[in-house]
Amino acid sequence: MYRILRFFLFFLSAEKAHYVAMDLLAVALKIPGFAFILKRSFKAENPHSVQFLGIKFPNRIGLAAGFDKNAKWLHLLKTLGFGHVEVGTVTPLPQDGNPKPRLFRLKKDKALINRMGFNNEGLDAMVKRLRHRPDGLIVGGNIGKNKITPNEHALEDYVKCYLAIVPHVDYIAVNVSSPNTPGLRDLQEKEFLTELFVSLHTLRENSKYKKPILLKIAPDLSVEALDEIIETIKKVEIDGVIATNTTISRENLKTDKAILNTIGNGGLSGKPLLEKSNEILEYLRHNLGKNYPIIGVGGVMDTRDMYTKINKGANLVQVYTGFIYSGPWMAKRWAAV
Ligand SMILES: Cc1cc2nc3c(=O)[nH]c(=O)nc-3n(C[C@H](O)[C@H](O)[C@H](O)COP(=O)(O)O)c2cc1C
Repeated sequence: MYRILRFFLFFLSAEKAHYVAMDLLAVALKIPGFAFILKRSFKAENPHSVQFLGIKFPNRIGLAAGFDKNAKWLHLLKTLGFGHVEVGTVTPLPQDGNPKPRLFRLKKDKALINRMGFNNEGLDAMVKRLRHRPDGLIVGGNIGKNKITPNEHALEDYVKCYLAIVPHVDYIAVNVSSPNTPGLRDLQEKEFLTELFVSLHTLRENSKYKKPILLKIAPDLSVEALDEIIETIKKVEIDGVIATNTTISRENLKTDKAILNTIGNGGLSGKPLLEKSNEILEYLRHNLGKNYPIIGVGGVMDTRDMYTKINKGANLVQVYTGFIYSGPWMAKRWAAV
């Protein structure tokens, strides 16, 4: 059924299709009778629950950051069977993001390229919605900085976001790895990460909200840069890592070079990212030890890819592009892994 719907959705621009599909589903789930049948069809059999970061996750599959940027669809996403959803990236102030078009499908590669640029409604809007989040779904809050905030003041943006959403989420994800905010990935260097995590840990010690704070990293780091991050993780005792964000690489794609040139800059996600993100995951697992909390994300298109990520060391797996290509029954099938 999703194949037919996807056929029509793929006539729309990639960004429009995203909203149309979610709004259609939300409406369908309000029609009595139909809602009952749909909800039953989404219910996972034998979901594999796991204990991670001191939290019981209903299953190992989560929706990666960037899909529900404003925490708008949490009830619907829970119905679809996700064990957790990472909302955001949220920035202190609302911002429009980059000019459209900014999201592109590479169908031949089962991939997407995006340069959304943290379009989001800002902290206040997110907090209002999180107050009504559904029970039984684990929610992570992914935080970033506004485009207009220079890197010298980035720490203040992260602190603002942290303080506002920490009461309403189960974990925090610090995003310093999106390729679409100029200079953001420079914040992955050890001086800034140390200062940032020390500040956040101090705020946590002096508050009643003891939520895990994770770091989300890029797949394009050199071995030296990755080693520095690992050193910082150990030194500052960062609670966990999310590996990885999208890549700026365009290697090994089936899509024509001319089309890629027309699309231009942006982060590549989906199938072509699997190998690269898995290499980072394996390296992290090897160097951080078997008990260190890691969420694996990048290029997971089916349950086989999900098993691969788990075998390479991921405790939980997140997906974004695989959900677009597989459709709303995806999480139901993956929840048993
Ligand atoms: C359209 C789009 C928007 C995204 N926005 C964010 C974001 O706001 N914050 C973030 O940390 N990651 C963002 N991501 C990255 C995803 O969370 C994920 O790390 C990446 O897409 C790799 O997973 P995938 O191959 O399953 O898509 C975005 C990805 C896409 C495709």
